[in-house]
Amino acid sequence: MTPQPLLSVERLGVAFQTRSGYLSAVRDIDLTINSDEAVALVGESGSGKSATALAILGLLGTTARVQGEVFLNGINVVGASARQLRSIRAARVGIVFQDPQASLNPVMTIEAQLVETLRAHLDITRARAKQRALELLELAELTDPNSRLRSYPHELSGGMRQRVMLAIALACTPDLLIADEPTTALDVTVQAQILDTLDRMRRDLGMALLVITHDLGVANRLCDRIAVMYAGRIVEEGATRHVLDHPTHPYTRALLEGQPQLADLGRRLRSIKGSPPVLGEAQGESCSFAPRCASATEDCHDDEPELRKLGRQLVACFHPGVPA
Ligand SMILES: Nc1ncnc2c1ncn2[C@@H]1O[C@H](COP(=O)(O)OP(=O)(O)O)[C@@H](O)[C@H]1O
Ligand code: SF4
Ligand SMILES: [Mg+2]
Repeated sequence: MTPQPLLSVERLGVAFQTRSGYLSAVRDIDLTINSDEAVALVGESGSGKSATALAILGLLGTTARVQGEVFLNGINVVGASARQLRSIRAARVGIVFQDPQASLNPVMTIEAQLVETLRAHLDITRARAKQRALELLELAELTDPNSRLRSYPHELSGGMRQRVMLAIALACTPDLLIADEPTTALDVTVQAQILDTLDRMRRDLGMALLVITHDLGVANRLCDRIAVMYAGRIVEEGATRHVLDHPTHPYTRALLEGQPQLADLGRRLRSIKGSPPVLGEAQGESCSFAPRCASATEDCHDDEPELRKLGRQLVACFHPGVPA
């Protein structure tokens, strides 16, 4: 029997309320993550990556309309009450965002923030929480964790603060860690160190990982599988090796052109001629990538390609390349 995936996203759609009515930012996302997997959602800024992650976490505000289903360990997040959501997240999911500065409380010491998080999740004494806080900082490979406990966020470097955020994310011993652009704000050397820690942590602790990134180097370094997003949809998905060595979608190919050194971190996605469609621009009637696609033919402007299996990959294109 195939084991149940840890995360199963089915036909996820997100629309935001705007002055022009509800406009769709994410459409028809299907994604599964098994308990031992690391998956990357990759795409240009504005492609709907964060909206997808926030929908998975049930964290979108009331101006967003979410459709479809998101099962976390078999429980549907879409339509769950605020209370159910808090307990699902508290028990199962850790989150790390791009900007640790914005996520940490500037007037609380690192110890106070970790202890507060731990005691919110677990029925433990203050003394035990303090001991656990130290263990978590060690897991996140923060140097000199004992004295860092007494520091305030502004006394730490950006990399150290991100390690504190990793420690906080581990407080509930999550099954799944969602990291949205976890290293984007850091310089390249620190990025590489934090990615190594993240990789080691997820392997040692047996967590699944969903990494959201615009950096193919980050996806390549951390993830078993890549899903490439364009204009709110997944347009190519497969094992990292297959997608990067044999990209079949013209968008993935364009992203990879000019980036032969995938080991390099911190490169912005290569800019491709033209711009992505604006939110809500005619969807479903043609391929969203057609105005920028070098391989586009007439049929690409008449209908939208479905995501289909091609070899060992999935691709949404009428004229895909040769798969792995
Ligand atoms: N709260 C919101 N209200 C209106 N539009 C939004 C909101 N959040 C995101 N968007 C729009 O949805 C699209 C996808 O955004 P996002 O998921 O943040 O992209 P990414 O994370 O890939 O950069 C963008 O066009 C963005 O402007
Ligand atoms: S469907 Fe057509 S326009 Fe769209 S990516 Fe494929 S070849 Fe390009
Ligand atoms: Mg984002």
